Amino acid sequence: MSDAGERPPRRVRYRGRNPRRFEEKYKEHQPEVYSETAAKVIASGKTPAGSHVPILVAECLAALALRPGLVGVDATVGYGGHAAQILARISPGGRLLGLDADPLELPKTTARLLALGYGEEAFLPLRSNYAGMAKALAQHALGAVDFALADLGCSSMQLDDPARGFSFKTAGPLDMRMNPTRGLSAAEWLARASVDKLAAALAENADEPRAVTLAAALAGRRFSNTLALADAVRAALGESAGEMADLTVRRVFQAVRIAVNDEFGALDAWLRSLPDCLKPGGRVAVLTFHSGEDRRVKQAFRAGHRSGIYAAISEEVITAGAEERRLNPRSSSAKLRWAVRA
Ligand SMILES: C[S@@+](CC[C@H](N)C(=O)[O-])C[C@H]1O[C@@H](n2cnc3c(N)ncnc32)[C@H](O)[C@@H]1O
Repeated sequence: MSDAGERPPRRVRYRGRNPRRFEEKYKEHQPEVYSETAAKVIASGKTPAGSHVPILVAECLAALALRPGLVGVDATVGYGGHAAQILARISPGGRLLGLDADPLELPKTTARLLALGYGEEAFLPLRSNYAGMAKALAQHALGAVDFALADLGCSSMQLDDPARGFSFKTAGPLDMRMNPTRGLSAAEWLARASVDKLAAALAENADEPRAVTLAAALAGRRFSNTLALADAVRAALGESAGEMADLTVRRVFQAVRIAVNDEFGALDAWLRSLPDCLKPGGRVAVLTFHSGEDRRVKQAFRAGHRSGIYAAISEEVITAGAEERRLNPRSSSAKLRWAVRA
């Protein structure tokens, strides 16, 4: 249905002609009702509120060599953009286990995929850390599978919703957890972090050149919200940082997010478990978004190739073309690597 169709009543009141805040953008939150609005937002290089534009889709599908009847895992199902395309190619007869740590988004994604016709016989959703993929496959009697995909990091739904606390651009609770019901929020993590621990996280998780200075200014402090942390980073840098300050704030948020969600621990565990989860000839594709992630995937695939675990691996990373980058700037830092189980 397009915007010209019958319109449900507005549920959110806002000032001015157009909604500005994430939660007010009721048309973007319902792309199935307001498809023209969603298409316009995407054409302008933005992501509609509450959704996620999948990255390097054709390249991921090609790397996985999908066909009807295959069984596999989407380890980071998110909005289900890749999952919907995978399901279209493995149907009829295929099955996809969809993992995600996020208990808020996974039910919505399951409902969207169900509306596309993929019920439990085709799509099995499981709220789980992908570090436990081998256990999840065993629990669902799926054994070794034909393919696995991981699209790392956080989704646009998580990044753009101020209530999730991932963004330094909008005020929100300093949370940053993929699963807000588990572990420490970013505010609690920072309040407990020593200078050494924070400096190590800034250096390892975001290659932050001023890790020690920033850690000394931020560690052990309790920040009331996302903007308070961003302001404290700018204050620690001083006025000379100028426009570079925003890049530093971005790196600090990335480093803290990775630490709060133990993203590298999960990725290392997943990469270790992969060979046991794939059938001979089974394929894996991984999308990474920064050097810490890509380094781990590259090293695991190269080591597996040398030792004969993988029969083939991607020689070069695959990146988004100019048009995809224009339409979806979030694709700019994406790197795709693949491997084939021996
Ligand atoms: C970039 S998004 C995936 C988007 C998805 N490919 C799509 O097309 O909509 C990454 C997703 O991975 C999830 N995630 C991050 N770390 C995870 C982990 N350790 N275990 C399971 N899910 C995780 C996040 O909650 C998020 O939904």
